[in-house]
Amino acid sequence: MSGVPASRDSFGSRFGVIAATAGSAIGLGNIWRFPYVVGENGGGAFLIVYLAFVVAIGLPVMMSEFVIGRSSQRNAFGAFKFLAPGKPWSVVGIMGVAAAFMILAFYTAVAGWTLEYIYQSFTNGFAGKNATELTTMFNDFRSGSSRPLLWFFVFMGLTALIIVSGVKNGIEKYTKILMPILFVILIVLCIRSLTLDGAAGGMEFLFKPDFSKLTASTILEALGQAFFSLSIGMGTLITYSSYIQKKENLGSAALSVAFTDTLIAVLAGVAIFPAVFAFGIEPGSGEGLVYITLPNIFQQMTGGYFFSILFFLLLGVAALTSTISVLEVIVAYFVEEFRVSRKKATWLAAASVSVLGFMCALSWGPMKDVSIWGKNVFELLDFTSANILLPLGGLLIVLFVGWYLGRKKTEMELSNDGDLKLWYITPFMLIVKFIAPFAIAMVFLQQIGLLSF
Ligand code: PHE
Repeated sequence: MSGVPASRDSFGSRFGVIAATAGSAIGLGNIWRFPYVVGENGGGAFLIVYLAFVVAIGLPVMMSEFVIGRSSQRNAFGAFKFLAPGKPWSVVGIMGVAAAFMILAFYTAVAGWTLEYIYQSFTNGFAGKNATELTTMFNDFRSGSSRPLLWFFVFMGLTALIIVSGVKNGIEKYTKILMPILFVILIVLCIRSLTLDGAAGGMEFLFKPDFSKLTASTILEALGQAFFSLSIGMGTLITYSSYIQKKENLGSAALSVAFTDTLIAVLAGVAIFPAVFAFGIEPGSGEGLVYITLPNIFQQMTGGYFFSILFFLLLGVAALTSTISVLEVIVAYFVEEFRVSRKKATWLAAASVSVLGFMCALSWGPMKDVSIWGKNVFELLDFTSANILLPLGGLLIVLFVGWYLGRKKTEMELSNDGDLKLWYITPFMLIVKFIAPFAIAMVFLQQIGLLSF
């Protein structure tokens, strides 16, 4: 059996659980990716489909991870080994650890760009530049070598410093401070955006559904986005929930986290689209929305200097509370399966991820010609983890809970002490046994190109 220390660290309070878990979920996925995916997929109608998926599929998958994590109180690999001894299910845990390596490498590289943009905001680096110049600025930065690398290592170092302090004194302590800060910054940005002349067009775009924009692939895109945004499918939530005390109610914790994550994504949309429309820019600006379009808006807007600092700080904070959750997956695995100290495990994990991260940070610069299947290292890791390992992991997780753990054990863990009958257990089991596996399998097949719409 995997070695679990007698005095295993845990989250100290309910607020700590929510702050840490919502911190993992809320990240670049909400503030960088969500707005441009909504923009590219037609706005309001996409939002409705996204919300439906969060409730019907995302929430049950999240609860499944919580059940696996808390009932085993082990890392993502140890959890499956403990719950299904001698069975091949622990492969799901290994996949999760592998995905953590990959996600952390490319995600930290993008998080590093945020630090460059915080620096540029402070030094007024966007002033007087037009859209073309801002595009060049972004491309020049990305294709360099020293700056992307520098920021990558700074971000990785910050992540490791928090993780080395442990669950209660590291993850919980910092997310309890950072998440409220994030929320306040976002509200300030929403108010600024909504008070611009012509803001209404952005709100209409975000909230007025035009169902003619929906296609099968848009619908699948919404499910993929929900997965990435909720941090499900790779053991992050198994690891975090293994630190949740038995007295906490898992269903309501999952509900709070899914709700907060979605609220923040919508608020990020509210902070961005009204401003985009007010300045007459196209909403579907793709990945450059945050790094090119927004600086363009900031440097034209009254108070833009101040708001650009706030925005990129927000992005940095959101990314940091997510990178720590991914590093924790690897560290918990090293500590419990190889019995190394937390300190050693953290630096070992950070150093080994940095090898991959080094290549990601240089993927548009000196390493741009290193490509496999037409993708540079960054794109390859992004694609393999987010589009293959994550949905596959999510699929296996719901199958594990639905078919292997079964209704009785699941209900017992979800209702804390087992004597409480849950009103939602029947629909929940129906979803994890049939509906979620089917929906996830569709997305998976579409993403790897075996199904096309
Ligand atoms: N959910 C995070 C975001 O939205 C990304 C993430 C994915 C974090 C998977 C952990 C695990 O940015």
